[in-house]
Amino acid sequence: MADDPLALFDAWFAEAGQSEPHDADAMALATATSDGKPSVRMVLLKGHGPDGFTFYTNADSRKGEELAANPQASLLFHWKSLRRQVRIEGPVREVSAEEADTYFAIRGRDSQLGAHASFQSRPLDRRSTFEARYEEMKRQFDGRDVPRPERWTGFRANPQRIEFWTDRPHRLHERRLFVRDGDGWTEGLLYP
Ligand SMILES: Cc1cc2nc3c(=O)[nH]c(=O)nc-3n(C[C@H](O)[C@H](O)[C@H](O)COP(=O)(O)O)c2cc1C
Repeated sequence: MADDPLALFDAWFAEAGQSEPHDADAMALATATSDGKPSVRMVLLKGHGPDGFTFYTNADSRKGEELAANPQASLLFHWKSLRRQVRIEGPVREVSAEEADTYFAIRGRDSQLGAHASFQSRPLDRRSTFEARYEEMKRQFDGRDVPRPERWTGFRANPQRIEFWTDRPHRLHERRLFVRDGDGWTEGLLYP
C-alpha cells in the first residue's frame, strides 16, 4: 500500500538487501543528552514492524546513557546503490528481557563472548586488555551456553515521522513525509 509507510519501508529495505554490497541493515542512530547535545553512530536494524525499529546494544554505552536520559531517537538509512534515504524519528523503549534473551541466543558465540568482554564506550588502556578479557570470557563460559549480559539489550524506536527521499535529476529530489496521526498516517511532500 503506497499510503502505508511501513509497507513502503519493507519494499525499499528488500530492494536495498538486493542491491547494497554490504550492510543494507546499517543505519545511523542519533541520540541526544537531556540538554540537547547530539551524538550519532551506526547500528544494525535487527527487526522492524508496526511496533517500531529495533537495534541491540549495551545499555551502559554512551547511546544507552543518552537514551536513558532522553528516550528519543532519529534513525537514518542511506542506500547509496539506490540513491535513497529514509529518516525515522520517535520515542524509544527498551525491549523486554525475554525478547533480548531470544535475540542474544541466536548470535554467534564469538559475538556473545564479545558482549561480555566489552565495557562498551568506556576508556580502554590498551587493546591487549580487551583481548585478555575476551580470552577470560572464553574460559569462564567454556562448555556452557553464554547468557545475555544483563545490560546488553534491545531498543525499539516507535516511528512518529518517516521520510522517504529519492534522488532525482538536477537535485529536484522527491521527499515524501509520513507523520503519525492517531492509528494512521498523514502524508505530504517536502521541498527538496
Ligand atoms: C555498520 C556498523 C554497524 C554497527 N552495529 C552496531 C550495533 O548493532 N550495535 C552496537 O552497539 N554497535 C554497533 N556498531 C558500533 C557503533 O557504531 C558504536 O561504535 C558503538 O555502539 C558505541 O557507540 P556509543 O559509544 O555512541 O554508544 C556498528 C558500527 C558499524 C560501522
